Amino acid sequence: MKQPLTTGRLSNTTWFARVATLMLLCALALVFATSAALANSHVRPPGDAVNVIADDGAPNTLGDRSDAEIWDDFRGGDPKDLLAPRPEGTVMTTTGQQWRVIRERFIVKYAGWFPVGVIGILALFFVVKGRMPIKGGRSGKTVPRFTLIHRIAHWTTAGVFMILGLSGLIILLGRPVILPLFGHEVNSTLTSASLQGHNLFGPLFIVCLIWMFVKFIRGNLFQLVDLKWILKLGGLFGGHVSSSQFNFGEKSWFWLLMIVGAVMSVTGLALEFPWFTEDLRWLQLSTILHGVGAITLICVSIGHIYMGTIGVEGAIDSMLIGEVDENWAKEHHDLWYEEVTGKSAKDDGNEEGAVT
Ligand code: HEM
Repeated sequence: MKQPLTTGRLSNTTWFARVATLMLLCALALVFATSAALANSHVRPPGDAVNVIADDGAPNTLGDRSDAEIWDDFRGGDPKDLLAPRPEGTVMTTTGQQWRVIRERFIVKYAGWFPVGVIGILALFFVVKGRMPIKGGRSGKTVPRFTLIHRIAHWTTAGVFMILGLSGLIILLGRPVILPLFGHEVNSTLTSASLQGHNLFGPLFIVCLIWMFVKFIRGNLFQLVDLKWILKLGGLFGGHVSSSQFNFGEKSWFWLLMIVGAVMSVTGLALEFPWFTEDLRWLQLSTILHGVGAITLICVSIGHIYMGTIGVEGAIDSMLIGEVDENWAKEHHDLWYEEVTGKSAKDDGNEEGAVT
């Protein structure tokens, strides 16, 4: 009997045929899966990216143009005009890039240095000039300056402001400052906690701002006497400067807080509830204004805190106990002293504390 050409083993031809079929099936499955994934992908090149027409008119499928050149064809908008609308037919706007440059190269890069600089200047000022004393010493008699409600409004606003300032700085500078110093875990914990705190206390700040406005507007309207204060630079280099309840410096702080605070509130709300506008450029503008406004307020508030604590003897009493020493009142707010006491700031028998 003739032996069969093949026994239990497959012939070479059949084996190759099966392997080839298997490979073909795998290749088909791969092509199918890739195209399905691409179809579902949200990040894919513009439809005609591979058919960009080269200068010579031939379809450019040989890869002689860089990715950057290809993407350039789809960019629109005037890079010099941040608010210019994106031209028809373009799929990308250049404003996002402008925003990123402003944010990363200016705001994130320098924001932290301004408060540090202000603290440095004030430290130097303190070393050179020292604390501004009550020249006549404490008289032992006091004049009421702020009610309890005024003080509660002030300290609530101050507390909320500090929480927002600190959490805001962590959100802004977490990546460039905290991350390299303390690592990912500390940075992510601090940043996410700050974000929650910032979102929570932000709306409260708006309420505080309105409260402060209502309680402190009286006494903060500019008057002619403020002009004299400006001309004498607030008595920085000697000489007495007359002042009503608040001097020009304090009034400026009040109005800066109100105006920049309002900008911070509007931009903050825009960032916290971004779905109110479909135009991304408002959000980009909001982050820039919010950052610049925050740094401005933080820097000036450091100056205010300095004056209220170690800078001027006796000033903190007004916000702690609501009363100030008579001599302090005569030296710093003579017109207000005369108004509330009905006495002259010059001649009430206390020569040392009297204003000259
Ligand atoms: C430790 C922090 C602070 C201290 C020690 C402090 C101290 C003071 C003091 C002593 C006064 C009264 C000045 C006077 O009697 O003439 C005052 C007023 C005021 N403070 Fe503060 N303050 C602090 C933080 C803040 C913060 C963070 C803000 C803003 C959010 C702020 C806003 C104001 C305003 C608007 C006034 C009234 C001044 C005016 O209306 O012109 N303070 N502060």
